[in-house]
Amino acid sequence: MSRFWSPIVQTLTPYVPGEQPKIANLIKLNTNENPYGPSPRVLEAIAAESSDALRLYPDPNSDRLKQTIASYHGIAPNEVFVGNGSDEVLAHVFMALLKHDKPLLHPDISYSFYPVYCGLYGVNSKLVPLDDQMRINPADYDQDCGAIIIANPNAPTGIALTAAEIETLVQAHPDQVVVIDEAYIDFGGETVIPLIKRYPNLLVIQTLSKSRSLAGLRIGFAVGHPALIEGLERVKNSFNSYPLDRIAIAAGVAAYEDESHFQRTTQAVIATRNNLVAGLKLLGFDVLPSATNFVFARHPRHDAARLAADLRAKAILVRHFKQARIDQYLRISIGTDEQCEALVNALQELIA
Ligand SMILES: Cc1ncc(COP(=O)(O)O)c(C=O)c1O
Repeated sequence: MSRFWSPIVQTLTPYVPGEQPKIANLIKLNTNENPYGPSPRVLEAIAAESSDALRLYPDPNSDRLKQTIASYHGIAPNEVFVGNGSDEVLAHVFMALLKHDKPLLHPDISYSFYPVYCGLYGVNSKLVPLDDQMRINPADYDQDCGAIIIANPNAPTGIALTAAEIETLVQAHPDQVVVIDEAYIDFGGETVIPLIKRYPNLLVIQTLSKSRSLAGLRIGFAVGHPALIEGLERVKNSFNSYPLDRIAIAAGVAAYEDESHFQRTTQAVIATRNNLVAGLKLLGFDVLPSATNFVFARHPRHDAARLAADLRAKAILVRHFKQARIDQYLRISIGTDEQCEALVNALQELIA
């Protein structure tokens, strides 16, 4: 607390990211990073960009990256907005598109940055509870509102809605923006990007942090009708002209040029997830159906906070949220086969 703070600062409850430990050799399954590195082509592009050219500002519009993302998804560059991680894209979305007199609807259990942005930008919001299976029920959103944001698949549950269910939701709210945060879509969900051509109220957000293994570079994007994108550009250009540096732009382009690396690593994560789910179920865990690079699991007889602390003592990090309804769950990111095997062995010892 300081008397020099602007008044709003006192009211903020900032987001707390998962631990990024300084200790080596931990098995890190707590922040949904990809266990595999980025494509070698990305590393080559970064090396090539690391030159005297760094004295120059990057392209403020990241046009090469927008072109690349647009052609990958069969849309136009003016339907693409890019930012410094999807967190920054989300921040601009809350300010540009989600602040209305009527409340923004979002699930009570979802990405915990959403309420933080509501606090920062003064967005009036209303939580819509997940059902008793921890699922989003689209019919629960049939209510008067200013806008809707949903993560699909949802986090931290990992459960996905189908594209048809999302389309029904978008159709039911022609006068509201519906934002679908697809951070984890490549691990088993069905993207609704093709629907943006038909629905001017649909905005889809994705990130290169998860399935493209670039969490350390910070690249995210939104796609939607050019009018939605223009609103985002107005906010971005009132905040930071150059959110993506030269290295991030070059690496982001290269990431889309190596489809086989993307497919190989994504499929490996999915295969490991399936083995991990089977291993956890054998130990008696209830595991929610995951379409992501993490699983959300609870044990009927073992306290989740205790398990997380005991795993940490064994040099394995997983994420535990002290939040009503989910405080008996662990969110476990999918690591390599070896890391997940070590986790299952450690849990076996702990619950024996
Ligand atoms: C649902 C969801 N959306 C967005 C993000 C932000 O990703 P990034 O800022 O790395 O693009 C995350 C990160 O964990 C997430 O879980």
